[in-house]
Amino acid sequence: MTLSHSLPSSDPPRLLIVFEGVDGSGKSTQINRLSARLDSMGILSLPTREPGGTPLGQKLREILLAPEIAVHPEAQLFLFLADRVQHAEEVLRPALEKGMIVLSDRFADATTAYQAFGAGLSRELVATLNKVALGGLSPDLTVLLDLPVPELEARLTSRDIGRTRFETLGRDYFERVRRGYLEIARVHADRTFVLDATFSPDRLESLIFSELERRFPETFVR
Ligand SMILES: Nc1ncnc2c1ncn2[C@@H]1O[C@H](COP(=O)(O)OP(=O)(O)OP(=O)(O)O)[C@@H](O)[C@H]1O
Ligand SMILES: [Mg+2]
Repeated sequence: MTLSHSLPSSDPPRLLIVFEGVDGSGKSTQINRLSARLDSMGILSLPTREPGGTPLGQKLREILLAPEIAVHPEAQLFLFLADRVQHAEEVLRPALEKGMIVLSDRFADATTAYQAFGAGLSRELVATLNKVALGGLSPDLTVLLDLPVPELEARLTSRDIGRTRFETLGRDYFERVRRGYLEIARVHADRTFVLDATFSPDRLESLIFSELERRFPETFVR
C-alpha cells in the first residue's frame, strides 16, 4: 500500500532558517516580512536574533554593541558564544523540538565572518568553539543578504550608531567580513541561498519565499 506516501505530511515543519549579512544588509526587514507573510498564511514562525534572543543575550548585546566599552577580540568571541549557547538551549532547541519554524537573525556564520575573517582570529579556533556552542544544531537554510561595502557605508552612516561603528571598524574590516560570508556560502553551498541585497525589499521577499517553496514544498506550498 503506497497511498500514504502521496498524502500531505502531518509532521510539524521543524525548520531553522537563518538570515545573515553585514550590518544594514536588510536581515530585520526580510525577517519581519517573512514572518508577516507566514502569519497571513496561517503558518506560525518564531523570529529571534543573536546576540540578544534571551534575557542573558540582551545584556550581552548591550555590552557588545556599546562603542564606549572596550572588548578584546577573544573576549568578544566568548561573549558571542555565551549568547549562542544560551540562545540554542533556551530558544532554538525547545522551539525546534516543538516543530516550529525558527527565523534567526544571525547565527554561527556571523561569528566566523566577523570574528575570524573580520577581526583576524583563527578560523580553526572559531570553528571549534562554534561547534561546542551549537551542540549539534545547524541551519536548514541560511539566507545570505550580500551587500557591497559602499552600499553598507551609505546605509550605516545614515544612523548615528552605525556611523560610529563604521568609522571605528573601518571599510577594510567590512570588506573582509563580506568576503568571509561569501567564502562560507561557497563552502556550504548546499544550505546557503545568496541574494544581492541591493535588490528592492519586495523583490528580495519574493525571491526568499520562492526559495522556501522550492526547498520545503510540504511546508510552504499551499
Ligand atoms: N532591499 C533594500 N534596499 C534598500 N534599503 C533597504 C533594503 N532593505 C533594508 N533597507 C534599509 O536598510 C537599512 C537596514 O535594514 P535592516 O535594519 O533591515 O538591516 P539589518 O541587516 O537588520 O541591519 P543590522 O545588521 O544593523 O541589524 C534600513 O534603513 C532599511 O530600511
Ligand atoms: Mg537588524
